[in-house]
Formats: sequence, structure tokens, C-alpha cells
Amino acid sequence: MSPAYIETAVKIAAQAGDLALHYFRQGVEVRKKGKIDLVTEADVAVEEQIVSELREEFPGHGLLREEGEAENLAEEFVWVVDPIDGTTNFAHGYPMFCVSIGLRRQGREVAGVVYAPVLQEMFWAAEGEGAWLNGRRIRVSEVAKLEDGMLCTGFPYDVHRHYEDVLGDLERVLPAAQAVRRDGSAALNLCYVAAGRFDGFWERRLHPWDTAAARVVVTEAGGRVSRFDGGPYSIFDGEILASNGRIHDQMIRILVR
Ligand code: IPD
Ligand code: CA
Ligand code: CA
Repeated sequence: MSPAYIETAVKIAAQAGDLALHYFRQGVEVRKKGKIDLVTEADVAVEEQIVSELREEFPGHGLLREEGEAENLAEEFVWVVDPIDGTTNFAHGYPMFCVSIGLRRQGREVAGVVYAPVLQEMFWAAEGEGAWLNGRRIRVSEVAKLEDGMLCTGFPYDVHRHYEDVLGDLERVLPAAQAVRRDGSAALNLCYVAAGRFDGFWERRLHPWDTAAARVVVTEAGGRVSRFDGGPYSIFDGEILASNGRIHDQMIRILVR
């Protein structure tokens, strides 16, 4: 992995975060994609800025993006872009949102950048290079027992129609953990696992751009990422279980009925 790729992606994410912050402060017009699935003018504008910079810096690379059409997915390198992860938070003036840019090489995530502009926290990681937050190396927590762990989860956009499985997970995890949070940005939640703030995270029915960047941050920070049953995770799977590694098997036993 060329360090120049990461440096460029960090620069692009920082500029995208500035643009998102500009919209966040001025207020934005909100449209509905689904019953509770929102999109704002900021999502579209921030993605356009990221995509045009990626195209200029890396002509020939592929692009998988939330708000626009995918292109050149058969290329060796494919960038996976979520311009604002945490749009509902963003639209309500709640500061937990981020820009997420992941890089896949031959079908595998090899690097990722996640930037939370309100807190000005820049997470990045690349295979073999470690995981970093604002220039400092980060590591997952050392919590070994689920009962001592602070976990986080998310509720998918179809939760109003399909809540039984989501509530079932919560019903079993809640009494087993010290605390459970739901904070509305899967990418940032995963980075918080990487930084040792959360000990584990799980969510169902996510999209590839929610996790492509942050999954690399978690594994490079020494954490483990899998499906709920412990099997190998793919960003196209939907469900993700991420943890500090130590509590992973305990979470699998609870999530797999
Ligand atoms: C959403 C956020 C949220 C999660 C949803 C995602 P978006 O992404 O990551 O935390 O619960 O499942 O779709 O729409 O804000 O980019
Ligand atoms: Ca997202
Ligand atoms: Ca988004």
C-alpha cells in the first residue's frame, strides 16, 4: 500500500469534513429516501467533492459510493465512499457524523480514512501500517469480560418494519454487558472500538460504504471483525461484529441464537 494513497485520502477527507461542517453550521434541506432514511444537500455535495478529487488523483481507480453510480468496479483499486455517515444525526444537529473513505485492492479492504469534523478527529489505517488518530497510534481496549464492556450498536433503516431481530439482539446483549450505546454512525462507532472507547460493536443490514474504511481501522488497532457467527466478514454481508478480540467469542455466543 503506497503511503501516498493514504496521505491523499486523508487530505480529501479533511476537505470533505470542512464542507460537511459548513453545511452542518448553516443548516440543510432534508429529503427522505425511505420512511426514516434521509439525504441532505450536504450528502450530495460532499460526495461530489470527494469523487471529483479521487478521479483527479487516481484516474483509472474504481468508485463505489452511497449517493451516486458505482464505476469501474473491476479495477485493481476501488474507493468506497460514504460522504456523511450519520446523516440522521447530521440533520438533527447532533455532532456524531463522519466522512468515510475506504480503499479496496483486488476485492479486499486495505486502507481507510474516517474523519469526524466537529470533534476534528481523523482516524486512518492501512494494512501493515497500524491504526492512527490525529497522528497517534491507537489500540483496542484490554477488557476481557463482556460484563465489563461498553458496547455499541446501530439500528438499520428498515427497523420500523423489521425490528424483531434487532430487539432480540439487544434483549440478550443488554443484561450481559456493562453498558450499551446507540450513536448513529457505524463508521465512527467502529473507529471508537479501534480507539478503545467501545469494547465491541454490532449491527445488521449495513451497506458496504458504512464499514469499508473503519473495518481496516479496527483490525489494524488489534481488534477482530467478523460476521455474527464468527465467520469471515465481507462489506457486502450487512451484518458486522467488531470487538477488541478478547470479548469476541462471548459476543458470538450471545448474538448467535
Ligand atoms: C447509517 C449510519 C447508522 C446506521 C445505519 C447506516 P448513513 O449510515 O451508519 O449509524 O445505523 O444503518 O445506514 O445513512 O447515515 O450514511
Ligand atoms: Ca452510512
Ligand atoms: Ca451516508
